[in-house]
Amino acid sequence: MNIIAPSILACDFGNLKSEISMVNKSKAHWFHIDIMDGIFVPNISFGTPIMQILKENAEKILDVHLMIINPDNYLEKFSSLGANILTVHYEACTHLHRTVQKIKKLKMKAGVAINPHTPISCLKSIIKDLDLVCLMSVNPGFGGQSFIENTYEKVKELKSLINESNSDALIEIDGGVNSNNAKKLIECGANALVAGSFVFKSKNPSNTISELSSIIN
Ligand code: DX5
Ligand code: ZN
Repeated sequence: MNIIAPSILACDFGNLKSEISMVNKSKAHWFHIDIMDGIFVPNISFGTPIMQILKENAEKILDVHLMIINPDNYLEKFSSLGANILTVHYEACTHLHRTVQKIKKLKMKAGVAINPHTPISCLKSIIKDLDLVCLMSVNPGFGGQSFIENTYEKVKELKSLINESNSDALIEIDGGVNSNNAKKLIECGANALVAGSFVFKSKNPSNTISELSSIIN
């Protein structure tokens, strides 16, 4: 089963509970939650109060993507706020191995995200420890950007690395995902697709999720 993870960043925050309820009832599998600090990325999204509302209302896996410096300072916090998957950026972690072990010790699945310019080879020594790799298919910081085509090659390279290493890591694609690139991404080896604007800015988000789900499953 391939996974659709609608990105809450693109939702209508004035109606957050009904947006969450729409995702609960939809064919989506996860909630993708983008936490931005205005330092690691040039934008501030939202923080723990929104995460608390998700914890109380969401009935699916909470997939948290930390785009922040010093993520180690917040691992316990996101664990207590119900994160099931916690993804940190390779580019933000000096002691990535330690950070990954700590996420697992806190009983969350451990993910590592890499920026579009970061090579797959940087994951070689850590891939066996990971539950998820998030390949950024846009430069992180904003929703609604265009998909970077070079991502397909990176997915294939990552898939080979995962297979060679006997790793169980899932491949998640984040940024600019839509019905035109979804199928090809899965064919290249992706397992989970994040979709923000394509879902929430569409006329009928629930139908859009169903449409994406039927393309990839
Ligand atoms: C980008 C975020 C993405 C974003 C995706 O920094 O990590 O998760 O919400 O949004 P779309 O699907 O609109 O590119
Ligand atoms: Zn994200």
